Amino acid sequence: MGKANTHTGGFSTRAIHFGYNPADHQGALVPPIYTSATFAFPDVGYGGRCFTGEENGYFYTRIANPTLALLEGRLASLEQGVGAVVFGSGMGAITATLWSMLEPGDEVLADMTLYGCTFSFLNHGLARFGVSVRHVDMTNPANVAAALGDKTRVVYLESPANPNMRLVNIAAVSALAHASGAKVVVDNTYCTPYLQQPLLLGADVSVHSMTKYLGGHGDLTAGAAVFADAELAQRVRLYGLKDMTGAVMSAQDAHLVMRGLKTLALRMDRHCQSAQTLADFIAAHPATAVVHYPGLPSFPQHALAKQQMRQMGGMIAFELQGGLEAGMCFMDALQLVTRAVSLGDAETLAQHPASMTHSVYTPEERAAHGISEGLVRMSVGLEDVTDLLDDIGQALDLAHAKALRSAPKAQTAAAPSCSEPA
Ligand SMILES: Cc1ncc(COP(=O)(O)O)c(C=O)c1O
Repeated sequence: MGKANTHTGGFSTRAIHFGYNPADHQGALVPPIYTSATFAFPDVGYGGRCFTGEENGYFYTRIANPTLALLEGRLASLEQGVGAVVFGSGMGAITATLWSMLEPGDEVLADMTLYGCTFSFLNHGLARFGVSVRHVDMTNPANVAAALGDKTRVVYLESPANPNMRLVNIAAVSALAHASGAKVVVDNTYCTPYLQQPLLLGADVSVHSMTKYLGGHGDLTAGAAVFADAELAQRVRLYGLKDMTGAVMSAQDAHLVMRGLKTLALRMDRHCQSAQTLADFIAAHPATAVVHYPGLPSFPQHALAKQQMRQMGGMIAFELQGGLEAGMCFMDALQLVTRAVSLGDAETLAQHPASMTHSVYTPEERAAHGISEGLVRMSVGLEDVTDLLDDIGQALDLAHAKALRSAPKAQTAAAPSCSEPA
């Protein structure tokens, strides 16, 4: 019972089959989960050679494991890398990668807006060990050109950025960084390899929180880094993962991520379609001040989004006319949409970055980094979009009524209060 080459085919074919032939595993359709922490050596010489790298065998799961290796191969194939390393969380992937790429005296040039814990790792972690960190607004590549210096080793960015959705032209910034001798690391969590391929655009490393869309069901924490350079991949595995962080992923979670990958393209199509419908609806509602969604023609980088993303993604951020108070009212009025951090799950999730995922920034830092206090972030799930429209519509109506009531010339004393059901 042969099987066609499992390394070829389109995105979903590789997401389902890459690197696995049931015939090699007693016909098992689903790859076995190797839970073993350690691996037996046939003789002591072989064990020693594994440690020196002369043998390529498995010897300890923190360094390599067959289940993790299958997932790593699939991720590298999906994102067109030469190799991948998986981790116990997205922060594990980010920290292990950066620990491996930087030395005291080096500089990281980072975009203005980053996920809160990444911002914290750079400014409160790496910065304590002699690495300097500078933030520049990378929405304009000219700012990167002006800021790159002799000591810049790594250019770090998210596109779209969490939480305000700003994009960076990955190809333009990568070309500038390489001309200056720096490497580019892109956090591709929001897009997944299905919507955006940073390595093909010129980046050196693409990092992911697989806790999000890649797992897809909110039931695991995991991370990954996909590399354009095999030597760097090996350095991150043998130094960043093995010695510096130990952020190893469990084989059970790797199995769950591989299950998630099988439906990634289908899920992303639905996330994107529903997000566009909701973004259009929220943008047209009188309660709304601004919607940040790459699929809206009003989005300042709409053209760039169409250039470097396959579709516009499942994440929306918006601000209401009544600012912070109206945003809180909106969130508390939601009945189907779940108030929770994280993203990429089947459930639609709404959260308040200033008090939650981005609370590690001081209020002054948030203002300087483009994260407004009233911003609401929504991860659009897989529910029927008509039900989401109903729920979001009633919550926007309530927030609007409250904003009108609080306005100086309000003549709406009978408007319902935020806590009253719609
Ligand atoms: C863009 C982005 N990168 C990285 C992370 C960190 O991932 P994890 O929570 O899996 O450590 C997150 C988490 O929310 C994120 O949103």
